[in-house]
Formats: sequence, C-alpha cells, structure tokens
Amino acid sequence: MSERSGPSREELEDYAQALFVREDPILAELRAEQEARGFPSIQVPARTGHLLSILLRAVGARRVVEVGTLGGYSALWIAKALPADGRVVTMESEPEHASLAREFIDRAGRAEMVEVRQGNAVDLLQELGPDGGWDAMFVDADKERYGVYLKQAQRLLRPGGVLLADNVFWQGRILDDSDEADAATRALQDFNRALAGHDHFDATILPVGDGVAVAVRR
Ligand SMILES: C[S@@+](CC[C@H](N)C(=O)[O-])C[C@H]1O[C@@H](n2cnc3c(N)ncnc32)[C@H](O)[C@@H]1O
Repeated sequence: MSERSGPSREELEDYAQALFVREDPILAELRAEQEARGFPSIQVPARTGHLLSILLRAVGARRVVEVGTLGGYSALWIAKALPADGRVVTMESEPEHASLAREFIDRAGRAEMVEVRQGNAVDLLQELGPDGGWDAMFVDADKERYGVYLKQAQRLLRPGGVLLADNVFWQGRILDDSDEADAATRALQDFNRALAGHDHFDATILPVGDGVAVAVRR
C-alpha cells in the first residue's frame, strides 16, 4: 500500500501564517529599509515574530531581554505583546543596526518601551540585572555563543519565565553529525542537548520557521 504524501511543512506553515499572522505596515517598511541598506535578510519571519508575541502574552511578560536586534523587527513584535508599562532591552553589536532599530522603534511609538543597547551581548548581559527579574529572553544572535546566553537566561529569568531561541534547526544542519559540521552547527547541537537535559528548564522545540526553542525556567 502506497503512503499518501501530504503537504510539506512549508505549505502547512503558509496556511497557518495566512490565517493568523498580521504584520504591521511599519514592520514591512522596516524589512524593505533593511534590504535597501544592504543588511543581511536574517530577521525572524513574520510567523516567528507572531509566535513570540503569543508566547509572551501567554506568560504575561512585562520585562523582556533580546539578544540580537538587527533593525528592531523582532523587538517590535515583542513590544506589541507587552502591557503599556512593559520594557524590552535589546542588544546589538553593530552600530548601524542599532541606529536603524532606534529609528524604527521611535517611529513605531515604542521608544519609551524598547531600549537598544549597543555592544557585545556577552558583556552587556553580564552587566544586566536583577537576577530573576526578567520574564523572558529571546536569543537570536551569534550561534557560537548560545551556550553563554543559556547560562545568562538561567540567572536572569524568574521561575516560570521563558527562554526563546531562534534557528535551532539551523536550516537542517542541526542533523549534521559529521566531522564537516561547522562551529555554529556544533554550538547549536550543544545548546539543544543542554536544554533537553537541563536541571533548571523544561524545554521543547517548536517547528516554526527555522525552529524555535521554548524553555520555561523552573
Ligand atoms: C539574526 S540577527 C537578529 C534579528 C532580529 N532578532 C530580528 O528578528 O529582527 C542577529 C543580530 O545579532 C547581532 N549580533 C551578533 N553577535 C552579537 C553579539 N555578540 N552581541 C550583540 N549582537 C550580536 C548581529 O549584528 C545581527 O544584527
């Protein structure tokens, strides 16, 4: 008996996106501006931005830290999920990216809520407090350092707080267990394994976009 081949994951994701995801016009404008400036097109897809905002609403997030701002696309999805007195601190190493993010965050009327800190997130996170004072962390920067960001999430998140991390499927390369796997792939494999067996997080991966790890702080 031949197996019926169903729709691809992409087709199913497109279906869900068409039904549920509404991207604000300013976000479409930001994507176009990033492209015009020659920035890499590595912002989260709209479906992942929408997922972030739903998960943040579900945990009643008010204070969120983001690692990897680019032009502020995901930061604006995050901001949308927070109450009026919510706060986002987003970290970005490239001055040009941070500058565009500030411009669009301002234009979106979110300058009070979203602070862009320019610098290396490894250092900026070390300076960030208070311990246990954050409701969520979204990690979307240098893959080699996801393990460092996991340690900081353990320190910064309150019990019940969520760590969200993008690209944990790494466009399929996560399955590459050959000697050819590069440093980013290995780091992501280590990160996923660490989360799966973590003493302080309950975690899974949602197969949305490039794979989003979702981990709740015990
Ligand atoms: C994938 S992009 C972020 C996309 C953004 N989250 C979005 O969806 O709109 C990654 C960003 O992280 C920045 N980055 C890479 N390593 C970093 C580090 N160690 N500290 C701070 N930012 C870093 C890059 O310059 C880049 O802008």
